[in-house]
Amino acid sequence: MKVIVCWVIGIAHHRYDAKFCQQRKLSLSILKEFGFGKDIMEERIQAEVSVLLQQLRDVKAVAFYPDAVLMSCVLNVITSILFGHRMDDKAVANLGSVTGNFVYNEGHLIPVDMFPLLRLLPKMRRIFAITAAFHNQLFHIIRSSIETSDEDSFVRYYMNRERSNLDREQLEFIVRDFVIAGSETSTSTLQWALVLLSGRDGQCVQERMWKEIDSQVPRDRLPSLADRLHLPFVEATILEVMRIRTVVPLSLPHWTSSDTTVGGYFIPADTWASNSAVLFLTTFFIFPLIFTSTVA
Ligand code: HEM
Repeated sequence: MKVIVCWVIGIAHHRYDAKFCQQRKLSLSILKEFGFGKDIMEERIQAEVSVLLQQLRDVKAVAFYPDAVLMSCVLNVITSILFGHRMDDKAVANLGSVTGNFVYNEGHLIPVDMFPLLRLLPKMRRIFAITAAFHNQLFHIIRSSIETSDEDSFVRYYMNRERSNLDREQLEFIVRDFVIAGSETSTSTLQWALVLLSGRDGQCVQERMWKEIDSQVPRDRLPSLADRLHLPFVEATILEVMRIRTVVPLSLPHWTSSDTTVGGYFIPADTWASNSAVLFLTTFFIFPLIFTSTVA
């Protein structure tokens, strides 16, 4: 099935080999050239944050579920980097829904990675089929977006770099990886930030963050990466949100390539390793289950 085959193309699910290293290096170097860590990417993020802030102001004091506006904001940052422009509201909502449904169903297939025989169960076969259908829809959007991409975009830079070596399918899967890896993760993290900051433990954190930003950033502009050094409490809070609500707790699957020993523990070859448990160890955090455990 296409969904299975696709795990050996792109970056995120590619096995560790020479092709993975080359494609990962190429993508990173384009991102750097294109603006990763420079102003272009930051400008696009700030433009979308301004739109998001206006949307939040527009709902005034009415309670609402922010999932859709956050997803649009995140996807517009990603698509403007990948394709050179933001999408219209309907197109971005459709992309958000297809991506969200793909990730949701794909999540139910994780047990198959651990116990491959589960793939034979009728329920799992059904989920495979649904996941494949959303995957196809996602590719339909990606292909037409690549066709209409601007010169100043990740995909055009990629095509120009690869020229006669261009593997169109590989490019499509890299774009897919960016869309999937970047959208749900960032949206969920922002949603958790809102939940945690509006909760009981978050009220005083909000106030301290606000005071820090107000003392360091002029009110006529948004905070930028250059302010980071002067906003240690804000940075600690962002890291704390990601610690206590790890949105990819099992990370991407990594297997040890040979027997190894880490911190005195023997880990045999071919073991699926995940290190997110350290985020909740009392050795490092006095109250690991409480938000603000590290920002107080
Ligand atoms: C809060 C937001 C994010 C979180 C929590 C997150 C989390 C992760 C994690 C845990 C991994 C696996 C790392 C590993 O074990 O090797 C990963 C890999 C990856 N992420 Fe993210 N991510 C976020 C945002 C993004 C964004 C915005 C993009 C791109 C637009 C992105 C693209 C990728 C890609 C391409 C990989 C695979 C990299 C590789 O295999 O070398 N992520 N991410």
